[in-house]
Amino acid sequence: MSKAPLAAYPALRPRRLRQQDWIRRLVRESVLTPADLIWSIVVHEGEEAEIPVASMPGTARMSVARAAEAARQARALGVPAIAVFPFIDGVKKDDRGTAAHDPDGVICRAVRAMKDAAPEVGIMCDVALDPFTSHGHDGVLEHGRILNDATVELLVKQGVMQAEAGCDILAPSDMMDGRVGALRTALEQAGHQDVMIMAYAAKYASAFYGPYRDAIGSAKLGAGQFDKKTYQMDPANTDEALREVALDIAEGADMVMVKPGMPYLDIVRRVVEAFAVPTFAFQVSGEYAMLMAAAQNGWLEEDRAILESLQAFKRAGCAGVITYFAPRAARMLGA
Ligand code: PBG
Repeated sequence: MSKAPLAAYPALRPRRLRQQDWIRRLVRESVLTPADLIWSIVVHEGEEAEIPVASMPGTARMSVARAAEAARQARALGVPAIAVFPFIDGVKKDDRGTAAHDPDGVICRAVRAMKDAAPEVGIMCDVALDPFTSHGHDGVLEHGRILNDATVELLVKQGVMQAEAGCDILAPSDMMDGRVGALRTALEQAGHQDVMIMAYAAKYASAFYGPYRDAIGSAKLGAGQFDKKTYQMDPANTDEALREVALDIAEGADMVMVKPGMPYLDIVRRVVEAFAVPTFAFQVSGEYAMLMAAAQNGWLEEDRAILESLQAFKRAGCAGVITYFAPRAARMLGA
């Protein structure tokens, strides 16, 4: 890499390696396959198989039965895992997110149904309170502050419950300090030493989560409420991401994640280079919405743009990508 080329044009003609498909394939540096994808889905409590999400065309909130079908689909397509997020009825929400601890809630029911339907497919659960809190924050809100340690206690309770339901990977997305270690300790104590943790290690306070809040029906933060900047990271920072990742690994994370994805590929690259740990990125709702909106206007070639966006994660060094495009991309990749 650091060596200067021995010769220059016309001895060197980089286009020689691009002239036909066979040689392009032969020198390709990164490969995208269905095995690189984690399919993110949203489940709702009702019976309706699919309720389309307006801001994310092509996606829908799924019933538990439809989620089980999704698990079978993932298996058939060679997609290794599904990440599941809940849409909770507003009347069940309160300021501490009590509904998060219901072992018969929609997440636990979906996990059991998916593991029944396709036990070979890994299931990842979001450890976070925001789908369940009336204010939409990821933690306990008291006098205008998000309490760290009180929140961690609730997250631990939620995570152990998800493990009991059969979840394979706990993915805390809250950004409280110390939650990975607390989860790891609690899992050990509860006999769930094989349950993995994928830490949302470097999660930024991003505008790109907008459509997700629509998808899961969580409160619109902003006017009157404060944003998530006291716990999610400042988009201006990169060294801080390395410190966050180091902490999560030290606390027992098996895998780490950077979120959002495409606008943060520089962070992915630094994390991959600094730590020998499987690193994932979340292609979030806003990234999905941008691609689809442009495609629907005829401004982008939809299929190509989707695959190129996913390929970029592999090039940056990701072990895999959490994406709403997973089944679609897997089909295109010809599983
Ligand atoms: C919060 C959470 C969010 C997402 C996943 N978990 C939103 C947020 O932090 O406000 C976003 C996912 C997406 O945008 O696709 N625990």
